Amino acid sequence: MTKTQPEFYKAAPYGIWRNRSANGAFEILTSPDFIQLKLADYYENIATRFGRDFKHIRYISRYQPLFHDGTRHREIRKMAATYLRDVASELEDFEAQSVALIVTKLSQPGRVELVSEVVVPIMQKIAYSMTGLDFYPGLIAILSGTNSLKATKKIDETFGKIFELSKQRFPEDDEDKTAMRVLFAALGSEPMGATFALSFDTLFSGVKRQPISGLPWEYTFPATGPGMAFRQCRHAPVNLGEGAQDVSVIDVDISRFLKDDGANRNHMFGIGAHACLGRGLSLSLWQKVVDNMRTNPMKITHISSSQPTHKVFDYPSEIHVEISE
Ligand code: HEM
Repeated sequence: MTKTQPEFYKAAPYGIWRNRSANGAFEILTSPDFIQLKLADYYENIATRFGRDFKHIRYISRYQPLFHDGTRHREIRKMAATYLRDVASELEDFEAQSVALIVTKLSQPGRVELVSEVVVPIMQKIAYSMTGLDFYPGLIAILSGTNSLKATKKIDETFGKIFELSKQRFPEDDEDKTAMRVLFAALGSEPMGATFALSFDTLFSGVKRQPISGLPWEYTFPATGPGMAFRQCRHAPVNLGEGAQDVSVIDVDISRFLKDDGANRNHMFGIGAHACLGRGLSLSLWQKVVDNMRTNPMKITHISSSQPTHKVFDYPSEIHVEISE
């Protein structure tokens, strides 16, 4: 009989913990003992105590729902949900255009590089539809809390540019509206793009002249871009059982919800108070693509996928396929 490994382990090299299964991810995401990383407080602290002020990050952190719990979280989550409702018709157009783009690329004979021809345009389109602002890749990195000072400075400068752009293009916005615009320029696009890239890569990997309609298209994504959620203990370190008696910070491997038998695949969008506000849109777009692909008359050959070069989400930098009759 093989000995089962403990559920939680220290993920080198940072001494941060991680779960091994979907059950472990569920336990942490629903536990009252864990809260979001206090990154808003962190940026305030390093500014006031050490004079290291990343002022644009510090500002947007006050509006980042993933950096807050309790009352402030409820306020900004409501603000974010209202903001998204106000751009619902732009998002409908985005969805229709994205389905059309994917269907066109996958139904004409010839070679396609899916990242530059499909994934990047989708990320640009959704950022623009949500905000009227341009897409700046890499900003989602502020969620991780493990950026070097150099990387943080670059992220801060980019947020500064987006604030300026927002004020130029939308001078009538009040402070909250500007913050929401800037927030959504940095949140949503990359998780969606990375999830599409990884899902295409999972479905197409290794296939040779196979009918597209015969691939295992399901209404849930086969892979997820944002594979981790981040939590810290609310008060003192938490005892999570064998070998994990003092857990303070944990990276929650939410990709387990797609990998473990019997897990709830919808939990790839998070659970509870912080569950994803873009879940409906992301699934609706995917499901329209799936409906289309199930009747796609063409064949597909996977030519190659290149190693990820993106800093935050681990999706291939290029996915080459050939479409044929
Ligand atoms: C397939 C694409 C996407 C995936 C896999 C995804 C995944 C997630 C996950 C796992 C969380 C929870 C993180 C946590 O608990 O720490 C989350 C939160 C969030 N997502 Fe998404 N997301 C996607 C697309 C989007 C889009 C397109 C938007 C915007 C329209 C969006 C907006 C948000 C917001 C605002 C939150 C924070 C909610 C809160 O803290 O209250 N997401 N997402």
